[in-house]
Amino acid sequence: MTTVPAPLTLAVHTLGRDRRRRMAEDVRRALGGEPPELPCRYLYDERGSRLFDEITHLPEYYLTRAEREILEAEADRIVGVARPTSIVELGAGSCEKTRLLLAAGRRGGGLRYFVPFDISETALWKAVWPLVEEFQGLCVYGLVGDFDDDLHRIPRLGRQLVLFLGSTIGNFDEVERVSFLRRLRTIMTGGDHLLLGVDLVKDAGLLRAAYDDVSGVTAEFNRNLLLVLNRELGADFAPEAFEHVARVDGRRQRVEMFLRSGRDQVVRIPGADLEVRLRAGDMIRTEISAKFTRASVAEMLREAGLALRAWFTDERQRFALALAAPRQG
Ligand code: AVJ
Repeated sequence: MTTVPAPLTLAVHTLGRDRRRRMAEDVRRALGGEPPELPCRYLYDERGSRLFDEITHLPEYYLTRAEREILEAEADRIVGVARPTSIVELGAGSCEKTRLLLAAGRRGGGLRYFVPFDISETALWKAVWPLVEEFQGLCVYGLVGDFDDDLHRIPRLGRQLVLFLGSTIGNFDEVERVSFLRRLRTIMTGGDHLLLGVDLVKDAGLLRAAYDDVSGVTAEFNRNLLLVLNRELGADFAPEAFEHVARVDGRRQRVEMFLRSGRDQVVRIPGADLEVRLRAGDMIRTEISAKFTRASVAEMLREAGLALRAWFTDERQRFALALAAPRQG
């Protein structure tokens, strides 16, 4: 038995799982839907993650900068309310914005553990090493896992502040996001908090620009999904035969991203045992990105058994961080 916790531990839960079979099942189900879809989780292979990182630096893509602006201004206040012993981050990625909260937690004195959770082992390794050097005495327990299977593996280390940043919650539809938050609620106890990053409803022109930038990086990011299927499932998608489309759905308060077939074509996906016939103009949806208001966030949290405790926005009200806690009863 160890009495002094190791400064860095990485637990990999995804090894040995049949990743390809799962991808094949996901793709079959999604393409058979109405509208036909491809799961957005497969946008993030190594190239996709690099392209997303590029997106976050585009002038049109305000989300990342707005969220960082809030954290820079409010990290101490957030930590002051939550008083965490451990910070858990879902979809940690590069942990870049998290540093601000870790620093605030260390300043506040009570923070001892950081538990980053991510699907990508390489991304996690790269992110956690420097943290151990930077925050002496902080114990980092990295978890490589999947939101669907591994949430319950998150160790409970004192009072928790759970982070779900970047408006990743927006990738779920109305039903999925409540059931995801309900599952999150089950790993939280009284005194724990959730910090949720949400992009806010705004002018359709600004939204469209953010998801269809002039330099075409988002289009490349979108089409990269086809390269992933070519590589992993032996598909024969010709990426240049698909056009990137971003649409703002004002009624449902979300942006949707599609790949539109530029011609009549047949695509084979042997790894999923599929043959897809497309007409020119057919659209495959690759992502939804929901936009929120304070009221819609409060309602979503309520349905999941959580209560909105505090609300922080950037100066221009583009993005918000919602601080929530389990509801009594
Ligand atoms: C990482 C899911 C928050 O929805 O804004 C960026 C992904 N898609 N540009 C988003 C994305 C197109 C992004 N999230």
